[in-house]
Amino acid sequence: MARMKRIAVMTSGGDAPGMNAAIRAVVRAAMSQNVDVYGIRQAYAGLLSGDMELLTNREVSGILQRGGTILQTARNDEFKTVQGQRKALRRLNEHGIEGMVVIGGDGSLRGAKALHGLGVPVVGVPASIDNDIYGTDMAIGVDTALNTILDSIDRLRDTATSHNRCFLIEVMGRNCGYLALMGAILGGAEIVIIPEHEVPMETVANGLADAYVRGKAHAIAVMAEGASYKITDLQEYLSKRNDVGFEIRLTILGHTQRGGGPTAFDRLLATRMGVDAVNWLLDGQSGVMVGRQGRDQAPVALEECTTRTREIGKEYLDLARMLSR
Ligand code: ADP
Ligand code: F6P
Repeated sequence: MARMKRIAVMTSGGDAPGMNAAIRAVVRAAMSQNVDVYGIRQAYAGLLSGDMELLTNREVSGILQRGGTILQTARNDEFKTVQGQRKALRRLNEHGIEGMVVIGGDGSLRGAKALHGLGVPVVGVPASIDNDIYGTDMAIGVDTALNTILDSIDRLRDTATSHNRCFLIEVMGRNCGYLALMGAILGGAEIVIIPEHEVPMETVANGLADAYVRGKAHAIAVMAEGASYKITDLQEYLSKRNDVGFEIRLTILGHTQRGGGPTAFDRLLATRMGVDAVNWLLDGQSGVMVGRQGRDQAPVALEECTTRTREIGKEYLDLARMLSR
């Protein structure tokens, strides 16, 4: 098989800090091997409309430390259809693109699997703050988001202590409680509520009442957005109970968790993953994602990482419980 001369890169799904570092690594690794890289703007939407341009070392200069993604990202339903995917193939052929690196979450990787199924060589790079992608210990953006969450928890605890209050803090995680659980353990929260482990409102109230009686000056409950009830309903329930002790306040961290420059960990992860993605693609691999396993990186079949869910270690739940006293 002749060696590829031109590949493309895109960022897709929810943005994640470190996506720019990954784009930079892809471009520089490819250019060092005399391979051209096209940057596709706005993910699969841009692929369908042919919105792409050649990226050189200069276009990716000065982006390593920047949050967001210079290629932007988008969600697109047309690409999920057979007709949409055939249109995408046509666009790739028009531009002479022989292989792709797709940087994104599990949905984006499902799109990458579809392209692979149509014969386009594709390597995926996991990037999503949720850390819900099977086959990788960490996805790009998780560490930065977690640090942002910890900064917020620390600040909220300061004011909680001053006023003898309880803060209910909602963090991202549509279907996955990783950020909430790690945020709770590392932020020293009293309560954690995640989709993988239901905690009835009554149990939350009892836990807070107990913390008050034991003399705590504050209480923090961290809740994932994907939990089975809304944080506003929990606030209403707690406010109605007269035995909780603490006054209740609520903070939703929202999209602050997706912004900001990547941490050192995310810069390194994104850089290593971008370089491996290019090397593996040029070596003839396709239909795989770059997975971080321990200190190493290994290819994981897209078939596997898009059909299985990354699970939260039960030991972390036990840890959260034990340390919250
Ligand atoms: P994330 O990648 O962060 O999980 P989404 O789930 O929104 O984000 O997926 C991003 C995009 O990937 C979708 O808007 C769509 O264009 C594409 N995609 C998702 N699922 C599929 C699928 N089953 N087949 C083809 N493309 C898909
Ligand atoms: O990136 C994943 C995620 O942050 C989820 O936790 C959240 O539900 C979702 O993205 C929100 O994304 P958007 O506001 O872009 O639809």
